Amino acid sequence: MLKILLIAGARPNFMKVAPIYAEMRRREAEFSPMIVHTGQHYDAAMSGAFFEDLKMPRADVHLGVGSASHAVQTAKIMTEFEPVVLREEPDWVLVVGDVNSTIACALVCSKLGIKIAHVEAGLRSRDRTMPEEINRILTDAISDLLLTTSQDADENLLAEGIPQEKIRFVGNVMIDSLREHLELSTSSNIREDLKLTQGEYAVVTLHRPSNVDDKTTLSGIMNSLMEIAKDVPVVFPVHPRTRVKIDEFGVNAGGNPNGSEGVSSAGITMIEPLGYLDFMRLYSGAKLVLTDSGGLQEETTVLGIPCLTLRENTERPITIEMGTNILVGTNPEKIKAAAFAALDDDSKHETKIPPLWDGKAAGRICDELLR
Ligand code: UD1
Repeated sequence: MLKILLIAGARPNFMKVAPIYAEMRRREAEFSPMIVHTGQHYDAAMSGAFFEDLKMPRADVHLGVGSASHAVQTAKIMTEFEPVVLREEPDWVLVVGDVNSTIACALVCSKLGIKIAHVEAGLRSRDRTMPEEINRILTDAISDLLLTTSQDADENLLAEGIPQEKIRFVGNVMIDSLREHLELSTSSNIREDLKLTQGEYAVVTLHRPSNVDDKTTLSGIMNSLMEIAKDVPVVFPVHPRTRVKIDEFGVNAGGNPNGSEGVSSAGITMIEPLGYLDFMRLYSGAKLVLTDSGGLQEETTVLGIPCLTLRENTERPITIEMGTNILVGTNPEKIKAAAFAALDDDSKHETKIPPLWDGKAAGRICDELLR
């Protein structure tokens, strides 16, 4: 029986950990899983709602770290996590994604000689100004098992000198969660509550520091969204980081520079961050998604929904090559042109789903841990 610590720290981790935890619980003769929540995200809307929607039990261990600078947050996770590893003596620690919790827990284990499995290994934006890119490169360098979502990730790892025998292409476990919850998400009333008609609205998410921490960039994006909102309702669940910046900069958020909650002038409806099921119900009915999220590029690809990525690069090129993603950048004119082109395009596109994004990745991850 393998004792596994599963690390869940920030919002995009939870839908990756949930199917792996559930699979390990089903295979109870083979696995003894424990969830460790670092507390990187802590608001009900950023964390608790996801545990409920994903039917995950409360974390077995909660490190309660909270927000801080990168150095302080990473260091706090490490000092809180080290005694947990020493006490629990796991066979493996499994980290997912690219957040500060991922590298912090991996680094602790590498010094203690505890084996590390990294789910979603090998993705590269080649933009080292992105904190996540540093987390990806470093976590991969010290992991024992690199579990990848796409074959370009395998190639990236090989090019960095990581031996082939550590790399396993298992597919995309986040899509396990998507497939499991798509039907369930129809119980959400979010579209009715916001008076939206399927296929006749756009959804926006923004939280990358490069987009929201810079006033000129954020204002430019917001102005382009207001232009788009003249054509189609635009719904924008606002990440806490982005909310702080909108308020701090007094960015024109549809006519109310100081507040954002409930603002709906000029067609932009700004709302609180949504839970997993409500958000799935929202984006799955959209005509168009505009985002700087990594996960949403993949989710829209699987559902065949056009996605405009408001970044200059992506670590998920397969969503462009096979999926519905278009890299638009942050130039307001380019955003508007791409959005209007997508809104005017009523043709049915063939949706290609990347290999092994089939809802069965958690099983393959478990198999690889046993090998
Ligand atoms: C983090 C991840 C990012 C991921 C994103 C998803 C890193 C380096 N970044 O970015 O990769 O895409 O999560 O959301 O790990 N805050 C709250 N409540 C919370 C959490 C955060 O209000 O529950 C606010 C705090 O003011 C905090 C700010 O949001 O300072 C940023 O949070 P942080 O976890 O540092 O980074 P994210 O921008 O969320």
